[in-house]
Amino acid sequence: MFSTLLFTQFALYLYKSNNKHQFMENFSDLIKSRRSMRKFTDQELTQEEVVTLLKAALMSPTSKRSNCWQFVVVDDKEVLEKLSYCKEASASFIKDAALAIVVTADPMASDVWIEDASIASIMIQLQAEDLGLGSCWVQLRERFTADGISSNEYVHEVLDLPLQLQALSIIAIGHKGMERKPFDESHLQWEKIHINKYGGK
Ligand SMILES: Cc1cc2nc3c(=O)[nH]c(=O)nc-3n(C[C@H](O)[C@H](O)[C@H](O)COP(=O)(O)O)c2cc1C
Repeated sequence: MFSTLLFTQFALYLYKSNNKHQFMENFSDLIKSRRSMRKFTDQELTQEEVVTLLKAALMSPTSKRSNCWQFVVVDDKEVLEKLSYCKEASASFIKDAALAIVVTADPMASDVWIEDASIASIMIQLQAEDLGLGSCWVQLRERFTADGISSNEYVHEVLDLPLQLQALSIIAIGHKGMERKPFDESHLQWEKIHINKYGGK
């Protein structure tokens, strides 16, 4: 009996250590280890990983369950490269990502489309981290390409987006190409927390 238990524990340990990215040990560790990843390996994502990421997007909470978002999933290298020029700077790594999820929403479908699309964006990032993948948010709203075209307009052109949609973010995702240290809790800005009233200690 004891040896069976020991064997089961050992098998579980081996399984977990070989699939360490498949398990969220706990949520606090996950949010601590999620750091923006701008360097990716060439490894593709599995279909299962892509589906898991999309489920996270589609399960995001939305105001009044309006689900005003639409997601464009890009794995075509040429399209990824085009997207990497969506803004003047801080987007070039999109071309090296295995996948980009372009988060768009319809402002006519919800007055809080920015909130809904932002929540979906971070849900995708947290799900990516849980899969052991790296990700980075690329801001599109209020941003411009090197030629001065609005990033939203540029992405519309590249992806053939319908006019009513606004492109909010691109989440670049791939296998991590570098190590990043987890968030250092000694940097937490506790002074930004106010008890019962602003300035309250
Ligand atoms: C709304 C928003 C927009 C961002 N836009 C970009 C961007 O366009 N390009 C980029 O490289 N990183 C972008 N980031 C990532 C931030 O730079 C990053 O989250 C921040 O520096 C903290 O670093 P960390 O994510 O590693 O903790 C964005 C993040 C947020 C939340």
